[in-house]
Amino acid sequence: METKVWIVDNLKDLSLSYPQIAQAAAKLRENEVVAFPTETVYGLGANAKSDLAVGKIYEAKGRPSDNPLIVHIATKEQLHEIAAEVPVYVEKLIDVLWPGPITFVLPKKPGLSDRVTAGLDTVAVRMPDHPLALAIIKETDLPIAAPSANLSGKPSPTRAAHVYDDLNGRIAGIMDGGATGVGVESTVLDCTQQIPVILRPGGVTQEQLESLIGKVKMDQALIEEGHTPKSPGMKYTHYAPKAPLMIVEGSLTFFQKTIDAARREGKKVGVLATKEKAESYQADTVLVCGSREDMQTVAAGLYDVLREFDAAEVDCIYSESFSNKGVGQAVMNRLLKAAGQQVVKE
Ligand code: TXA
Ligand code: MG
Repeated sequence: METKVWIVDNLKDLSLSYPQIAQAAAKLRENEVVAFPTETVYGLGANAKSDLAVGKIYEAKGRPSDNPLIVHIATKEQLHEIAAEVPVYVEKLIDVLWPGPITFVLPKKPGLSDRVTAGLDTVAVRMPDHPLALAIIKETDLPIAAPSANLSGKPSPTRAAHVYDDLNGRIAGIMDGGATGVGVESTVLDCTQQIPVILRPGGVTQEQLESLIGKVKMDQALIEEGHTPKSPGMKYTHYAPKAPLMIVEGSLTFFQKTIDAARREGKKVGVLATKEKAESYQADTVLVCGSREDMQTVAAGLYDVLREFDAAEVDCIYSESFSNKGVGQAVMNRLLKAAGQQVVKE
């Protein structure tokens, strides 16, 4: 299949008359799959009402069929066409946080392809905060199922080039709208109970949610080992670069000793560093991922840097560790998954 690439570089003045948007929307209406940017990561979209179209997402990504998809919408009315019940606290959150990086898991209404929800009786819904995503969804006049537009297991794409590397030839098109902003995926919030539960930490933090609606729980599986995650996608290894990654907790001296030990074994060592510490490491490849003073910059650069290590062909990667505060919670969640939970402690 030939993958068409559309480029839209003037995001300020987006009217639906952009031919690229109309073309991408037409492909979606023909039940083809098309990648487009959101504020978090690039998504791989398909008509959420069509088994055929949704099937193509699973096929292109090599995604396990028991891992349900997030339905992306452009208007609040669409939410009520998809969800059977919307609790008052969700209405409150939507008023402040949508469009934005938060996904609500709600009881579903009939009408969507069963493959979207992987047989569950709930559906995950979000309104992305990106002019291109919103314009494309509006133009299709459909709910659009969209997982991250990477091959299953790889880091999520934060640039169109990442999508191209993973999916060229496997999908109908890629809408290139430049680098995404948030860098980690949306927060997935289970809203089927009295007290909402974070199933996947993401762009909206637990602190933000609690300041708006009071108590919000974390899925037990995110806190301690031995619990099955409530979000099917969270049980899979993810985000992994080719070389094994380990998180290092301890002083700079300990970090350097860890690097030196690997280099003595003849390994080419990569370091995932922040701006503040990057100069301190002696390794083969040191890649800078944001600043410790602004965790949002670390989130924004994370997947890009993980993919860059593949190009650098290192044999192992050591990463700095971060606190779980704010968006740091999502960053550490993704890093730990990329590392297969391996942490080297002083
Ligand atoms: O930021 C994002 O959320 C991006 C962009 C493209 O919108 N999308 C994304 O989709 O990250 P994906 O498919 O990579 O991750 C969706 C997560 C998975 O962990 C999946 O298991 C979970 O949401 N999920 C989807 N439907 C669910 C449901 N009904 N109940 C529980 N978890 C669900
Ligand atoms: Mg994903």
